[in-house]
Amino acid sequence: VIPLYTSRRTSAYFGDCRDVLAHLIAKRGAFASMAWIDGPYGMGKGEWDRLTGARHNRSAVPDEAVEARVSRYVDLLSDLDPDGADLAAWYAPVLYRISAACLQSASAYVWNTDAGEAVLRPIMQALGWTFRGRVTWDKMTTKALIGANDMRTWLDVTEVCGFYQREPADLFEALASRMCSERDRVGVSRAAIDAAAGTSNVSQYWWQSRGWRLPTRPMWDILQRVSGGFRWDWEDLRREEEGVRAACPAFSAPIGVSNVWRHNAVSGSERLRINGEAHPCQKPLAFAERAILASTRPGEVVLDPFAGTCRCAVAVERLPASEAREVVSIDTDRCWLEAVRPSLLSDPMATATAAQPSLFGGSRE
Ligand SMILES: C[S@@+](CC[C@H](N)C(=O)[O-])C[C@H]1O[C@@H](n2cnc3c(N)ncnc32)[C@H](O)[C@@H]1O
Repeated sequence: VIPLYTSRRTSAYFGDCRDVLAHLIAKRGAFASMAWIDGPYGMGKGEWDRLTGARHNRSAVPDEAVEARVSRYVDLLSDLDPDGADLAAWYAPVLYRISAACLQSASAYVWNTDAGEAVLRPIMQALGWTFRGRVTWDKMTTKALIGANDMRTWLDVTEVCGFYQREPADLFEALASRMCSERDRVGVSRAAIDAAAGTSNVSQYWWQSRGWRLPTRPMWDILQRVSGGFRWDWEDLRREEEGVRAACPAFSAPIGVSNVWRHNAVSGSERLRINGEAHPCQKPLAFAERAILASTRPGEVVLDPFAGTCRCAVAVERLPASEAREVVSIDTDRCWLEAVRPSLLSDPMATATAAQPSLFGGSRE
């Protein structure tokens, strides 16, 4: 699969994300540290958004055990919630591919309607993701609030997003158990450590994998003095801890930001248009930037499989060099990929190389 174009930090693919991802995974294995999943909602916002009947010609999830669970779930939903069943049926194989493109330490953001987000949650869980919480986009004052009055229920001015990670259950087990065996070997007690350090139960997190904490350098020196010698250098321990933490999903939310994200529906100069027509579901650029900075580290790759107006790519291209990430954007609508292209190629070096793809053997991933 050859990208439609590449820029400094983005590879943009025109095609169905199921096919593009199958090729990318075959070529490079799992690569993404974050997936920004903003696909169809089943609301008929475009031809691609009509999922009616998806359960009747659902393609199977290639993993047998997951497929068995998904089938039972879709069957159950067919009785209770036919629209939900179509959504689940369409998304199951898609989320399977996206999951396969994600590293074990990745985070996933799954956008949908209120009902759709709930329907997709068990599928994500069947695929091995842990649900960490739900972000609500409060669109605040929209036309809906000013003009319409549905009279049957509260006006809906939100979209929601399930937030998932999949970290191994017991990350610090090896470190904690080695600490315990050293403690038992030299026979040092918590009380002796506290007495030497003038603290109260300071060592409790050194011996347990849950919430394991690296002793500070001064505490380590005290421990060595009291115990007569752990066979471990503090620097080695610190490096091991760093390795374990690097295998965890990144997460650093800006202070003061909760799981309610307030932002007007995208309008004005931020709203992209082609011949006066806006993309039906453009997300605020600030959301993509926020999620990327919170859930990835510099140098990591963001996957935007339903890219539309390519908010992840635009956000990443704007980051300073010290914060650089890469983005894989995919969409079945070539027009929108082309429409954002100039803003992604504003870097003159990128423009020069993107104009000569054949020099690089056709594929410039
Ligand atoms: C909800 S919109 C995404 C909007 C985007 N997050 C933004 O901020 O502009 C869904 C997008 O998915 C695209 N799409 C639908 N089915 C697809 C598929 N199978 N593979 C890739 N893209 C698809 C549509 O063309 C549409 O642009």
